[in-house]
Amino acid sequence: MSFRLTYATMYNPPETMHERFELAMTQVESTLGARHPLFIDGADRDARQHAHRRSPIDTGLHLGDFALADPADVEAAMAAARAAFPAWRATPLAERARLVRRVGEIMEQRVYQIAAALTLEVGKNRMEALGEAQETVDFFRHYADDFESHAGYRHALPDDPIKGIASHNASVMLPYGVWVVIAPFNFPLALAGGPTAAALVTGNTVVVKGASDTPWAGRLLADCVRDAGLPAGVFNYLSGSGREIGEALVQHPLTAGITFTGSVPVGRHLMRQMASGAYPRPCIAEMGGKNPCIVTEHANLDHAAAGIVRSAYGMGGQKCSALSRLYVHESVADALIERLQAQLAAIRIGDPRRREYWLGPVVNAAAYDNYLRYVDALRGGGATLLGSEGRAGDPAFGHGHYVEPVLAEVPLAHPLWQQEMFLPILMLHRYGDRAEAMRLANDTPMGLTAGFYGGADEVSWFHEHIEAGVTYANRPQGATTGAWPGYQPFGGWKGSGSTGKAIASFYYLAQYLREQSRTVV
Ligand code: SER
Repeated sequence: MSFRLTYATMYNPPETMHERFELAMTQVESTLGARHPLFIDGADRDARQHAHRRSPIDTGLHLGDFALADPADVEAAMAAARAAFPAWRATPLAERARLVRRVGEIMEQRVYQIAAALTLEVGKNRMEALGEAQETVDFFRHYADDFESHAGYRHALPDDPIKGIASHNASVMLPYGVWVVIAPFNFPLALAGGPTAAALVTGNTVVVKGASDTPWAGRLLADCVRDAGLPAGVFNYLSGSGREIGEALVQHPLTAGITFTGSVPVGRHLMRQMASGAYPRPCIAEMGGKNPCIVTEHANLDHAAAGIVRSAYGMGGQKCSALSRLYVHESVADALIERLQAQLAAIRIGDPRRREYWLGPVVNAAAYDNYLRYVDALRGGGATLLGSEGRAGDPAFGHGHYVEPVLAEVPLAHPLWQQEMFLPILMLHRYGDRAEAMRLANDTPMGLTAGFYGGADEVSWFHEHIEAGVTYANRPQGATTGAWPGYQPFGGWKGSGSTGKAIASFYYLAQYLREQSRTVV
């Protein structure tokens, strides 16, 4: 039996979905250990060096050997993308949209295999992995539809007759050239594929660089592009070190624009780089989050507990949208904590290939070490750990980078209130006054997502005061996470995003275009 995965099936998976994932996992596991080349100018390209990658699920599991691009590969990818640009830009919109949709269709045919690879490479549980794979499919469809619905953003404007001579006016939006996409490890497919779809459909050519922890996902995207029959050079894929090839890409004179998703320091560095050079170039930077949730005394606490646990601990908190700061009204704090403790106790940690484990490992040894440091810092800074010990590496969890989710009541002076951790650690504070809760929620240079649980008549107060680009009120499916293309535009305010235009929003594609005003007599 076959059916389409959708946003809704992610929350209510039918049995078939499990069977198909398990079958795909067996198939994908039988291919482990292969060598994965770069993809440049429509062909595979072997690199001089490869990274021997192991799975965070089980460090004894060899995923494969992934090409490490060097400066010559960067040059080759940039030259191919530049050479392909004139013809791609001149390709009629309907044909570009058809090819972009085709990438999504091919990806959809492979969605279970790709999800299995994401589980193996990143450590996501199957629902998170399938969610990411299907979301990427939907990005391709969404941006193709969106660009067509805007008719390529071409607008006729009124004629202006001056001294009896009529000027005919129009506005056209044109692609920039070679667009570089720098993807993060946590959504290595969606945040490579989404910007790729946007850049391609608007007529740019693309060079993607995958995160050094997750070269496989980007390579699977490249396979879909290749099999969709896009012209050579229109899409190119590089895996390798961020410091070396990321820097070479951003400094490259042919780089016309960048979409980056990752940390605030790297994003700001890229923005500075893109502002320099011969002239400033656009940089769409989606950066971190330190996302808050406010729970008032009027909240439905069951809904709040469900949404909070999903958003704070799903994928081990390794989402820029993850919930990390919880402000609870003192009159309901104990009752909420009790519910959260019950849910925490029910979380099963272990090998995410298996259905019963909801929480897999964190991505690598550095994240694991950070976790140990943060838990120590919380304890040393007067925090009370509620309902979990902050254990890491318990052999019962498995032979990977497994850690236990943490809920901690933390003094407000603690420096970790200000630091993005990207780990399953939720900090809690009891407040007495709603205005104080809002002040604390906004007391960060970030502004990506925010959650609220309270009375229906308090929701507009939340919207009016919260400084965040993505907001959720009274949502049990997730307090701060789970945006999906076509449903929730996703983009940050303040230090979380450089443009104030959200992913998959009505305004997103326009960022990949520059306007030319045309006046002709
Ligand atoms: N789309 C995902 C979420 O909203 C990650 O960015 O959680």
